[in-house]
Amino acid sequence: MIAIHDVHMVYPGSRGRHAVPALQGVDLRVDEGEFVSVVGPSGCGKSTLLHLLAGFEFPTEGRIEIDGQLVQRPGADRAVVFQQAALYPWMTVAENIGFGLRIHGLRGAEYERRVRDYLGIMGLEAFAKHAPYELSGGMRQRVAIARALITQPETMLMDEPFGALDAQTRNEMQRFLLRLWRTLRPTVLFVTHDVDEAILLGDRVVVMTARPGRVALNLAVPFERPREWDLVLTPEFVGVKRQVLGVLRPQLESAEHLEEFMAGIKGAPE
Ligand SMILES: Nc1ncnc2c1ncn2[C@@H]1O[C@H](COP(=O)(O)OP(=O)(O)OP(=O)(O)O)[C@@H](O)[C@H]1O
Ligand SMILES: [Mg+2]
Repeated sequence: MIAIHDVHMVYPGSRGRHAVPALQGVDLRVDEGEFVSVVGPSGCGKSTLLHLLAGFEFPTEGRIEIDGQLVQRPGADRAVVFQQAALYPWMTVAENIGFGLRIHGLRGAEYERRVRDYLGIMGLEAFAKHAPYELSGGMRQRVAIARALITQPETMLMDEPFGALDAQTRNEMQRFLLRLWRTLRPTVLFVTHDVDEAILLGDRVVVMTARPGRVALNLAVPFERPREWDLVLTPEFVGVKRQVLGVLRPQLESAEHLEEFMAGIKGAPE
Protein backbone atom coordinates (compact mmCIF):
# COMPACT_ATOMS: atom_id res chain seq x y z
CA MET A 1 0.00 0.00 0.00
CA ILE A 2 1.21 3.50 -0.89
CA ALA A 3 0.72 6.32 1.60
CA ILE A 4 1.60 9.87 0.61
CA HIS A 5 1.39 12.17 3.65
CA ASP A 6 1.33 15.94 3.19
CA VAL A 7 4.10 15.90 0.61
CA HIS A 8 5.68 19.19 -0.45
CA MET A 9 8.33 19.48 -3.11
CA VAL A 10 10.26 22.64 -3.89
CA TYR A 11 12.99 22.51 -6.50
CA PRO A 12 15.66 24.87 -5.17
CA GLY A 13 16.59 27.93 -7.18
CA SER A 14 20.20 28.40 -8.09
CA ARG A 15 22.36 30.45 -10.43
CA GLY A 16 19.71 33.12 -10.88
CA ARG A 17 16.82 30.70 -11.27
CA HIS A 18 13.76 30.86 -9.09
CA ALA A 19 12.92 28.07 -6.70
CA VAL A 20 9.92 26.14 -8.06
CA PRO A 21 7.27 24.85 -5.65
CA ALA A 22 6.07 21.78 -7.57
CA LEU A 23 3.90 20.04 -4.95
CA GLN A 24 2.17 21.52 -1.94
CA GLY A 25 0.57 19.21 0.57
CA VAL A 26 -0.27 16.13 -1.47
CA ASP A 27 -2.19 13.47 0.45
CA LEU A 28 -3.02 10.22 -1.25
CA ARG A 29 -3.40 6.56 -0.39
CA VAL A 30 -3.31 3.82 -2.96
CA ASP A 31 -4.30 0.28 -2.01
CA GLU A 32 -2.39 -2.77 -3.07
CA GLY A 33 -3.38 -3.85 -6.58
CA GLU A 34 -5.32 -0.67 -7.20
CA PHE A 35 -5.16 1.23 -10.51
CA VAL A 36 -5.15 4.97 -9.92
CA SER A 37 -5.18 7.48 -12.77
CA VAL A 38 -3.73 10.95 -12.23
CA VAL A 39 -4.65 13.97 -14.35
CA GLY A 40 -3.73 17.62 -13.93
CA PRO A 41 -2.47 20.67 -15.80
CA SER A 42 0.98 20.61 -17.36
CA GLY A 43 3.63 21.47 -14.79
CA CYS A 44 1.46 20.65 -11.76
CA GLY A 45 3.94 18.09 -10.45
CA LYS A 46 2.63 14.75 -11.75
CA SER A 47 6.03 13.55 -12.94
CA THR A 48 7.54 14.96 -9.76
CA LEU A 49 5.16 12.83 -7.71
CA LEU A 50 6.15 9.70 -9.63
CA HIS A 51 9.85 10.54 -9.22
CA LEU A 52 9.34 10.84 -5.46
CA LEU A 53 7.53 7.48 -5.39
CA ALA A 54 10.31 5.94 -7.46
CA GLY A 55 12.87 7.26 -4.98
CA PHE A 56 14.71 9.33 -7.63
CA GLU A 57 14.08 12.47 -5.58
CA PHE A 58 12.94 13.26 -2.05
CA PRO A 59 10.17 15.47 -0.74
CA THR A 60 11.11 18.76 0.90
CA GLU A 61 8.39 18.05 3.48
CA GLY A 62 6.10 15.17 4.26
CA ARG A 63 6.48 11.41 3.92
CA ILE A 64 5.98 8.71 1.33
CA GLU A 65 5.61 5.17 2.62
CA ILE A 66 5.17 1.94 0.76
CA ASP A 67 3.93 -0.92 2.91
CA GLY A 68 4.83 1.13 5.96
CA GLN A 69 8.43 1.72 4.79
CA LEU A 70 9.72 5.19 4.07
CA VAL A 71 10.80 5.52 0.42
CA GLN A 72 14.49 6.34 0.58
CA ARG A 73 15.89 5.01 -2.66
CA PRO A 74 14.81 3.37 -5.92
CA GLY A 75 13.89 -0.29 -5.52
CA ALA A 76 13.06 -3.37 -7.55
CA ASP A 77 9.56 -3.30 -6.04
CA ARG A 78 8.81 -0.19 -8.17
CA ALA A 79 9.08 0.08 -11.94
CA VAL A 80 8.81 3.26 -13.98
CA VAL A 81 7.53 3.59 -17.55
CA PHE A 82 8.14 6.97 -19.17
CA GLN A 83 6.31 8.73 -21.99
CA GLN A 84 9.13 8.11 -24.43
CA ALA A 85 10.18 4.51 -24.20
CA ALA A 86 13.74 4.82 -22.87
CA LEU A 87 15.24 1.68 -24.38
CA TYR A 88 18.92 0.88 -24.63
CA PRO A 89 19.62 1.50 -28.32
CA TRP A 90 22.60 -0.88 -28.44
CA MET A 91 20.62 -3.84 -27.10
CA THR A 92 18.17 -6.02 -29.00
CA VAL A 93 14.50 -6.15 -28.06
CA ALA A 94 15.06 -9.39 -26.13
CA GLU A 95 18.06 -7.94 -24.29
CA ASN A 96 16.10 -4.82 -23.39
CA ILE A 97 13.24 -6.90 -22.01
CA GLY A 98 15.59 -9.12 -20.02
CA PHE A 99 17.70 -6.28 -18.64
CA GLY A 100 16.10 -6.22 -15.18
CA LEU A 101 16.49 -9.97 -14.82
CA ARG A 102 20.19 -9.80 -15.64
CA ILE A 103 20.61 -7.01 -13.09
CA HIS A 104 19.16 -9.44 -10.57
CA GLY A 105 21.69 -12.03 -11.63
CA LEU A 106 19.31 -14.33 -13.48
CA ARG A 107 20.99 -16.30 -16.27
CA GLY A 108 20.55 -19.47 -18.31
CA ALA A 109 17.35 -21.38 -19.07
CA GLU A 110 15.16 -19.55 -16.57
CA TYR A 111 16.27 -16.18 -18.02
CA GLU A 112 15.59 -17.38 -21.58
CA ARG A 113 12.16 -18.71 -20.61
CA ARG A 114 11.03 -15.52 -18.89
CA VAL A 115 12.18 -13.33 -21.78
CA ARG A 116 10.44 -15.63 -24.27
CA ASP A 117 7.23 -15.49 -22.20
CA TYR A 118 7.21 -11.70 -22.22
CA LEU A 119 8.07 -11.49 -25.91
CA GLY A 120 5.01 -13.69 -26.41
CA ILE A 121 2.71 -11.70 -24.14
CA MET A 122 3.74 -8.50 -25.95
CA GLY A 123 3.39 -10.05 -29.43
CA LEU A 124 7.04 -9.30 -30.15
CA GLU A 125 8.37 -12.83 -30.82
CA ALA A 126 9.29 -11.96 -34.37
CA PHE A 127 11.28 -8.93 -33.23
CA ALA A 128 13.41 -10.47 -30.49
CA LYS A 129 16.65 -9.75 -32.35
CA HIS A 130 15.67 -6.36 -33.72
CA ALA A 131 17.13 -3.12 -32.41
CA PRO A 132 14.82 -0.51 -30.84
CA TYR A 133 15.18 1.87 -33.80
CA GLU A 134 13.71 -0.81 -36.05
CA LEU A 135 10.40 -0.81 -34.12
CA SER A 136 7.28 1.35 -34.32
CA GLY A 137 6.44 3.69 -31.43
CA GLY A 138 3.79 1.32 -30.07
CA MET A 139 6.17 -1.62 -30.23
CA ARG A 140 8.89 0.35 -28.43
CA GLN A 141 6.41 1.21 -25.70
CA ARG A 142 5.47 -2.48 -25.40
CA VAL A 143 9.16 -3.34 -24.95
CA ALA A 144 9.41 -0.67 -22.23
CA ILE A 145 6.36 -2.09 -20.45
CA ALA A 146 7.64 -5.66 -20.76
CA ARG A 147 11.00 -4.57 -19.36
CA ALA A 148 9.25 -2.92 -16.41
CA LEU A 149 6.93 -5.85 -15.71
CA ILE A 150 9.28 -8.78 -16.16
CA THR A 151 10.76 -8.43 -12.68
CA GLN A 152 7.18 -8.46 -11.35
CA PRO A 153 7.32 -5.19 -9.44
CA GLU A 154 4.57 -4.58 -6.90
CA THR A 155 4.18 -1.02 -8.13
CA MET A 156 4.11 0.38 -11.67
CA LEU A 157 4.65 4.12 -12.03
CA MET A 158 3.51 5.09 -15.50
CA ASP A 159 4.09 8.63 -16.79
CA GLU A 160 1.90 9.21 -19.84
CA PRO A 161 3.09 5.93 -21.31
CA PHE A 162 0.79 6.18 -24.34
CA GLY A 163 1.00 9.93 -24.86
CA ALA A 164 3.11 9.70 -27.99
CA LEU A 165 0.99 7.03 -29.69
CA ASP A 166 -1.73 7.42 -32.31
CA ALA A 167 -5.33 6.82 -31.21
CA GLN A 168 -5.58 3.28 -32.57
CA THR A 169 -2.30 2.04 -31.10
CA ARG A 170 -3.14 3.78 -27.88
CA ASN A 171 -6.42 1.91 -27.70
CA GLU A 172 -4.68 -1.42 -28.25
CA MET A 173 -2.12 -0.58 -25.59
CA GLN A 174 -4.84 0.32 -23.09
CA ARG A 175 -6.55 -3.04 -23.52
CA PHE A 176 -3.24 -4.73 -23.38
CA LEU A 177 -2.23 -2.98 -20.16
CA LEU A 178 -5.55 -3.90 -18.53
CA ARG A 179 -5.07 -7.56 -19.45
CA LEU A 180 -1.61 -7.52 -17.89
CA TRP A 181 -2.84 -5.73 -14.82
CA ARG A 182 -5.65 -8.25 -14.30
CA THR A 183 -3.15 -11.09 -14.51
CA LEU A 184 -0.25 -9.67 -12.49
CA ARG A 185 -2.14 -7.24 -10.26
CA PRO A 186 0.53 -4.63 -9.62
CA THR A 187 -0.45 -1.37 -7.95
CA VAL A 188 -0.53 1.21 -10.76
CA LEU A 189 -0.17 4.98 -10.71
CA PHE A 190 -0.99 6.09 -14.22
CA VAL A 191 -0.42 9.71 -15.27
CA THR A 192 -2.28 10.84 -18.37
CA HIS A 193 -3.59 13.97 -20.07
CA ASP A 194 -6.51 12.03 -21.50
CA VAL A 195 -9.58 12.10 -19.25
CA ASP A 196 -11.33 9.26 -21.13
CA GLU A 197 -8.26 7.10 -20.67
CA ALA A 198 -8.03 8.01 -16.98
CA ILE A 199 -11.62 6.94 -16.33
CA LEU A 200 -11.62 3.90 -18.62
CA LEU A 201 -8.52 2.42 -16.99
CA GLY A 202 -8.70 3.58 -13.38
CA ASP A 203 -10.33 2.34 -10.20
CA ARG A 204 -9.98 5.96 -9.18
CA VAL A 205 -9.20 9.23 -10.89
CA VAL A 206 -7.13 11.81 -9.03
CA VAL A 207 -7.27 15.37 -10.35
CA MET A 208 -4.45 17.69 -9.31
CA THR A 209 -4.54 21.46 -9.04
CA ALA A 210 -2.31 23.76 -11.07
CA ARG A 211 1.21 24.14 -9.66
CA PRO A 212 2.01 23.76 -6.86
CA GLY A 213 0.03 20.54 -7.17
CA ARG A 214 -2.41 19.26 -4.59
CA VAL A 215 -5.17 16.69 -4.86
CA ALA A 216 -8.27 18.54 -6.02
CA LEU A 217 -10.49 15.49 -6.58
CA ASN A 218 -10.17 11.82 -5.70
CA LEU A 219 -13.02 10.05 -7.44
CA ALA A 220 -13.92 6.35 -7.38
CA VAL A 221 -14.81 5.14 -10.88
CA PRO A 222 -18.14 3.32 -10.57
CA PHE A 223 -17.83 0.94 -13.56
CA GLU A 224 -17.46 -2.84 -13.39
CA ARG A 225 -14.59 -4.57 -15.15
CA PRO A 226 -13.89 -5.69 -17.76
CA ARG A 227 -14.85 -2.44 -19.43
CA GLU A 228 -15.46 -2.16 -23.14
CA TRP A 229 -14.23 0.87 -25.06
CA ASP A 230 -17.83 1.87 -25.94
CA LEU A 231 -18.42 2.58 -22.26
CA VAL A 232 -17.22 6.08 -23.15
CA LEU A 233 -20.42 6.58 -25.15
CA THR A 234 -22.80 5.92 -22.25
CA PRO A 235 -24.52 8.69 -20.28
CA GLU A 236 -23.03 7.24 -17.06
CA PHE A 237 -19.51 7.64 -18.42
CA VAL A 238 -20.25 11.15 -19.62
CA GLY A 239 -21.55 11.92 -16.11
CA VAL A 240 -18.27 10.82 -14.52
CA LYS A 241 -16.29 12.70 -17.15
CA ARG A 242 -18.31 15.83 -16.43
CA GLN A 243 -17.37 15.53 -12.74
CA VAL A 244 -13.68 15.18 -13.57
CA LEU A 245 -13.69 18.00 -16.11
CA GLY A 246 -15.64 20.20 -13.71
CA VAL A 247 -12.62 20.14 -11.41
CA LEU A 248 -9.89 19.92 -14.06
CA ARG A 249 -11.07 22.70 -16.39
CA PRO A 250 -10.70 25.58 -13.92
CA GLN A 251 -7.22 24.27 -13.09
CA LEU A 252 -6.23 24.24 -16.75
CA GLU A 253 -7.53 27.75 -17.21
CA SER A 254 -6.06 28.99 -13.96
CA ALA A 255 -4.98 32.57 -14.63
CA GLU A 256 -2.76 32.34 -11.57
CA HIS A 257 -0.66 29.97 -13.56
CA LEU A 258 0.02 32.56 -16.21
CA GLU A 259 0.55 35.35 -13.67
CA GLU A 260 3.04 33.27 -11.80
CA PHE A 261 4.82 32.56 -15.05
CA MET A 262 4.94 36.24 -15.99
CA ALA A 263 6.15 37.20 -12.51
CA GLY A 264 8.86 34.59 -12.91
CA ILE A 265 10.07 36.27 -16.09
CA LYS A 266 9.93 39.84 -14.79
CA GLY A 267 10.77 39.46 -11.10
CA ALA A 268 14.25 39.73 -9.69
CA PRO A 269 15.79 36.31 -9.14
CA GLU A 270 16.31 35.25 -5.55
N1 LIG B 1 14.63 18.48 -11.79
C1 LIG B 1 13.96 19.62 -11.70
N2 LIG B 1 14.59 20.76 -11.33
C2 LIG B 1 13.92 21.92 -11.21
N3 LIG B 1 12.60 22.05 -11.47
C3 LIG B 1 11.94 20.97 -11.86
C4 LIG B 1 12.56 19.69 -12.00
N4 LIG B 1 11.63 18.78 -12.40
C5 LIG B 1 10.48 19.46 -12.50
N5 LIG B 1 10.65 20.75 -12.17
C6 LIG B 1 9.60 21.80 -12.13
O1 LIG B 1 8.55 21.33 -11.30
C7 LIG B 1 7.28 21.65 -11.85
C8 LIG B 1 6.48 20.37 -12.02
O2 LIG B 1 7.08 19.61 -13.04
P1 LIG B 1 6.54 18.16 -13.44
O3 LIG B 1 7.45 17.65 -14.49
O4 LIG B 1 6.38 17.35 -12.22
O5 LIG B 1 5.11 18.53 -14.03
P2 LIG B 1 4.04 17.58 -14.77
O6 LIG B 1 2.77 17.71 -14.02
O7 LIG B 1 4.61 16.23 -14.94
O8 LIG B 1 3.87 18.32 -16.17
P3 LIG B 1 3.59 17.68 -17.62
O9 LIG B 1 2.13 17.36 -17.63
O10 LIG B 1 3.90 18.82 -18.55
O11 LIG B 1 4.47 16.50 -17.80
C9 LIG B 1 7.57 22.37 -13.15
O12 LIG B 1 7.46 23.75 -12.94
C10 LIG B 1 9.00 22.02 -13.49
O13 LIG B 1 9.64 23.07 -14.15
MG1 LIG C 1 5.18 15.12 -16.60
